[in-house]
Amino acid sequence: MPVDLSEPLSWKTATGDADTMLQNLQANILKGHVREHLHILLVQFGEGPAGAAEARAFLAGLVPLMKSAKEHLEEVEGFKRNGSSGVSNTPYVGVGLTKAGYDRLGLSDRAPSDAAFERGMRDDGTRSKLNDPDVAQWEAGYREEIHAVVLVGDAEPGPADARLKKVEELLTGSLRVLGKEVGRGMRNANGDGIEHFGYVDGRSQPLFLKEDLEDERRGTDGVSVWDPGEELSRILVVDPAAPDAATDFGSYFVLRKLEQNVRAFRKAEEELADALKLDNDDRERAGAMLVGRFKDGTPLTLQATPGAHSPVMNDFTYASDGAADKCPFQAHIRKTNPRGSGGFEPPKAERRHLMARRGQTYGERTDGPGDELPEGGVGLLFMAFNADLVDQFEFTQLNWANNAGFPDPGSEPAPGLDPVIGQGSRPPATWPRVWGQEEGQEVPAPAQTVTMKGGEYFFMPSLAFLRSL
Ligand code: HEM
Repeated sequence: MPVDLSEPLSWKTATGDADTMLQNLQANILKGHVREHLHILLVQFGEGPAGAAEARAFLAGLVPLMKSAKEHLEEVEGFKRNGSSGVSNTPYVGVGLTKAGYDRLGLSDRAPSDAAFERGMRDDGTRSKLNDPDVAQWEAGYREEIHAVVLVGDAEPGPADARLKKVEELLTGSLRVLGKEVGRGMRNANGDGIEHFGYVDGRSQPLFLKEDLEDERRGTDGVSVWDPGEELSRILVVDPAAPDAATDFGSYFVLRKLEQNVRAFRKAEEELADALKLDNDDRERAGAMLVGRFKDGTPLTLQATPGAHSPVMNDFTYASDGAADKCPFQAHIRKTNPRGSGGFEPPKAERRHLMARRGQTYGERTDGPGDELPEGGVGLLFMAFNADLVDQFEFTQLNWANNAGFPDPGSEPAPGLDPVIGQGSRPPATWPRVWGQEEGQEVPAPAQTVTMKGGEYFFMPSLAFLRSL
């Protein structure tokens, strides 16, 4: 039976091509791999036939250090059933190639053909499309031509570091490491993962496995209003360089280093609260209006105060908030997933743009309570898997986050840019002064507090391809 890409997959009952696909697919694509401690290496291959041979040997050498999607899912299942005494958990190693990487390998004619992948993120056309800063302003590791990315992640620092060492031992000859990143998970008092502005992150994800959907149905606020189930075709594409198109799949991978000015974001929260004359406990709502959730993850469209964090709620749409007087149109999560309310496409078509986010925070926080907040050096290593970079990541950044006119506000003034990730000039926007009441007030746009420091588009090929090198 061919792999059915038109719906989520039940991995436990998968047989035939679907089972082989799971054995040939890299981990972390269909389901996020734990990566509290994450290393990222940006690698450049050498030139000519010798460079290609060394690059091939490096990629083939990675295979024994990697696990398949199926092995990962079995590990998670074993852990769930038996705790750590069941199947042992091993570090995650993932590898992706750029278009230039395929060229250096001598595989230009078998490289994936997504238009954004072919352009790359450093390309002038890509940068002007997304309003990204000049490459000269990017961090050093991203300014040169990158050919591969290697991710090494684990729940604990020891195994992650040991596995990184094994990867580094393979980097011989003409292979150069252009840059290294270290990601480290952050958690709040409830144990939920957060980003540097202090908000729960990674809660809302498309789910590609029927078992994950079942867990969501049973273990959370449910899936009856917002169904996160997504078809495999939203994340998997046939790997054109692998032996068998029926079983060998990969996924396009976005990496963007996004620096967060935490002090400026806190100021923006305070300024919005002042401008709207929010008092006492209600001041927290200012930050929630920028993000669309309170710090503890409570969706602002559902309630005016935090507290819905156990579990963090995700079973909602904006259907009962059509005038955006609870959650503003421009709030980050409403911009990046309007949940059927964007107004430009039918809900089903609108969902096409969602991607699987696999980001991790970077940078050490040394500030204690009452200390000055960091202005730089910390942020998000934004990572996401896509089946179509133009229609998913680029669409979200360009047509939604950077577009002052999205979502369609009906008769209201334009919503303005996404206050968290919008890039471009920021017109003033209207914000609800009182939760749930149609009393909007125009306020100058909050300053841009997230700065792109570099990034690239990759394809994470199938293990079958890597084994064939
Ligand atoms: C959700 C923060 C960058 C797309 C969220 C959430 C937070 C957050 C706090 C809510 C948690 C959740 O619903 O999972 C940030 C920060 C960023 C950043 C601080 C940069 C430093 C991006 C980028 C994109 C993006 C670059 C895409 C272009 C999304 C999407 C959601 C989300 C799609 C889920 C919305 C939903 O389904 O309701 N982000 N984010 N984010 N973010 Fe971001």
